[in-house]
Amino acid sequence: GSTLGDAAAESGRYFGTAIAGYKLSDSVYETIANREFSMITAENEMKIDATEPQQGQFSFSAGDQIADWAAQNGKQVRGHTLAWHSQQPSWMQNMEGSALRQAMLDHVTQVATHYRGQIYAWDVVNEAFADGGTGARRDSNLQRTGDDWIEAAFRAARAADPGAKLCYNDYNIDNWSWAKTQAAYDMVADFKARGVPIDCVGLQSHFNSGSPYPANYRTTLESFAALGVDVQITELDIEGSGQQQADTYRQVVEDCLAVSRCNGITVWGVRDSDSWRSSGTPLLFDGNGNKKEAYYATLDAL
Ligand code: XIL
Repeated sequence: GSTLGDAAAESGRYFGTAIAGYKLSDSVYETIANREFSMITAENEMKIDATEPQQGQFSFSAGDQIADWAAQNGKQVRGHTLAWHSQQPSWMQNMEGSALRQAMLDHVTQVATHYRGQIYAWDVVNEAFADGGTGARRDSNLQRTGDDWIEAAFRAARAADPGAKLCYNDYNIDNWSWAKTQAAYDMVADFKARGVPIDCVGLQSHFNSGSPYPANYRTTLESFAALGVDVQITELDIEGSGQQQADTYRQVVEDCLAVSRCNGITVWGVRDSDSWRSSGTPLLFDGNGNKKEAYYATLDAL
């Protein structure tokens, strides 16, 4: 294939990017996005603060813009994200207990119902485990409603959109030897054992000096997959530049392709200038939209 999406499709996979809806009017941006990618994640537009700014009042125009652009251009959509401690609207930040639990479930139901039939996979729950060596859940208002908030969210999502794959998504679950990885693995194993509906695990894979690409990444992908879920690389970006960065992109792609249930890779933005990282050059296109060494290594490895 001559594009990332076409090359990934040769092995039955997708290659995606995060899209910021307001940038689709930038022709350089839109041209690259449309040419190279087969899966789209809304960078912010389907998050809780965007879709339910006031409790019970839903706002889907920004998310719909991205979903419509994807459909018009023959691309699939990853939904991101239904339940998360971050980017909560202020009304939700101020809630707790059973009222918050019900508000969260209502949010999951309403948003997944709105997008029913349009979403390949939902990141149902994002970033629920703590960093560091404990393997504990992350403290949050949602976590304080009880350990079972995650499975409750998954059950609500399944009921609302039975056709969407349902994923647990997190960062720092790339290194197999890290306690956070093991904690996420144990949760997925438990869900599979008890019949909680879960279809996939998303590894964000934001790699930088504090959280570098680990040599055991393939082991992690294989281990999750062996539980009977698909694995997807959902928010890839790699700090660095030049050949070293390109080599790491190549290794990530090779690891995914070595695992049959690793069925897609998404980078978290188009050009370096689009990255959520305020400094750095972690993506596949430079600020002018030119292909970087990392792009060519990725395409070659697919
Ligand atoms: C980031 C977006 O890229 C930024 O535009 C926004 O200001 C903050 O969120 N993990 C996630 C993503 O799951 O939703 C985050 O996206 C990056 C980290």
